[in-house]
Amino acid sequence: LVHPCRTISLSEHVDPRGSLAVVETDKDVVFDIRRVYYLYDLPVSTVRGAHGHRNLEQLLIAVHGHFEVELDDGFSSATVELDHPATALYVGPMVWRNLVNFSPGAVGLVLASSHYDESDYYRDYSDFLADVRALRQKKRQLSSV
Ligand code: TYD
Repeated sequence: LVHPCRTISLSEHVDPRGSLAVVETDKDVVFDIRRVYYLYDLPVSTVRGAHGHRNLEQLLIAVHGHFEVELDDGFSSATVELDHPATALYVGPMVWRNLVNFSPGAVGLVLASSHYDESDYYRDYSDFLADVRALRQKKRQLSSV
């Protein structure tokens, strides 16, 4: 996957009464969860996300149905299909994400490290690209000193 994203298998408790999946801070996610939101009533051809974050960390879960997350760190891209309530996708800072191909009735749950803050967003892809590439260049220069 693209840096610094990864999929996480959540612990599942399955018994004849049904299934239960758990997300715990410090165990499944390394950030404190400060906000929870979810996407629902989504037209199947919709595109959600289409932004990047400067600092925000998130965990994305398809709690019902399935959808795809297109990830782009400014250098490489990857598409992850989320199709199970016990699988989560960690998306770190400076990653552009598009959420696409929602199945009918899909529900996307998002756990986030901060409260809603519009100034943390890149809404413009070329702004995101310029900053993420400049940041990588700076890191490279620092590590070569
Ligand atoms: P938007 O960022 O377009 O959603 P997505 O990431 O799914 O594409 O947000 C849609 C609207 O909801 C926009 O007016 C901002 C508002 N919003 C909040 O007020 N709080 C939140 O936590 C989020 C995620 C969005």
